Amino acid sequence: MPAFKELVFSGVQPTGNLHLGNYLGAIKRFVAMQAQFDCLYCVVDLHAITVWQDPAELTRQIREVTAAFLAAGIDPARSVVFNQSQVPQHAELAWIFNCVARLGWLNRMTQFKEKAGKDRENASIGLYDYPVLMAADILAYRATHVPVGEDQKQHLELTRDIAQKFNNDFAGAIQQQGHGEAFFPITEPLIGGPAARVMSLRDGTKKMSKSDPSDYSRINLTDDSDGIATKVRKAKTDAEPLPSETAGLEKRPEADNLVGIFAALNDVSREDVLREYGGAQFSAFKGALVDLAVAKLGPIGAEMKRLVADPGHIDAVLADGAARAEAIAAPNIAAVKDIVGFVRRR
Ligand code: TYM
Repeated sequence: MPAFKELVFSGVQPTGNLHLGNYLGAIKRFVAMQAQFDCLYCVVDLHAITVWQDPAELTRQIREVTAAFLAAGIDPARSVVFNQSQVPQHAELAWIFNCVARLGWLNRMTQFKEKAGKDRENASIGLYDYPVLMAADILAYRATHVPVGEDQKQHLELTRDIAQKFNNDFAGAIQQQGHGEAFFPITEPLIGGPAARVMSLRDGTKKMSKSDPSDYSRINLTDDSDGIATKVRKAKTDAEPLPSETAGLEKRPEADNLVGIFAALNDVSREDVLREYGGAQFSAFKGALVDLAVAKLGPIGAEMKRLVADPGHIDAVLADGAARAEAIAAPNIAAVKDIVGFVRRR
């Protein structure tokens, strides 16, 4: 495969409260990647409307996710921070990819099945097509690396399949037009760290999620210290003390989850955490986890509140990001149109 310029892309939906899973599985890692890569971080508002959103609330949430990016440490001067609907190339490429992706591929997507539930006939076509738009998000920039939580793994495999099929279907034109062997990179998913899948605080077998009806199941980025403390103290555990080795976390999903959260918040491994807390009772461990979570999340929540109070500033960041994003995507999509054989205005 030809060498592509290394570029990171990832997105977060502006739907409901951002929680510790979004932070540890994604946003915290976005911040770290800025040191090594050029990065684009997108508030995916087109994805949000695959289920109905109250318009005023959607506007608020777009600004709130942007504030979370900035409060967590994404530097908008260095990374491109924008919302998807301001860059028309996402929707445009999604249409072309709709004609590349196969029905059979989308029929296998487990997230659609979960989200559509029993009432599949009543789900929007957008919800079904959601992963194709994700592929367009990534490939409009020919991004090579995508940091996400584990729940996005299947969607990123579909992105790779779409890139591969486009490269094969149009191999002749791609070569003729001077792009070499392949126009799109086969994107590398970056899923990892101790918190690739943060679980509910009420049930260690269920993912921490925005849509869980119980607010005690998750720590929201906007929770205050008291809220964080109460939720950690109420978190489900078993009766045993913590083990000294990670093997002892097997079949103890709640213990495993809290140890993973501690590790990710503190930038260490589960092994390191157990070296310190092996043999400890949960009461003591939870006390330490409360202190750590409040120390790490408190300043982010406070900065988010400060930022959302100034929507003019947030909107200016998004406008600047959108212009920079479009400057990368526009020539790529123009090349795609030539490859497909469209006649375009020159
Ligand atoms: P979204 O908005 O559901 O979640 C944003 C990010 O948070 C991660 N995440 C978690 N990580 C660990 N534990 C959890 N419990 C947890 N819950 C959520 C998600 O994996 C994600 O990385 N489809 C995407 C948004 C998207 C996107 C993209 C991502 C649209 N286009 C292109 C990457 C590239 C989504 O719904 O994320």
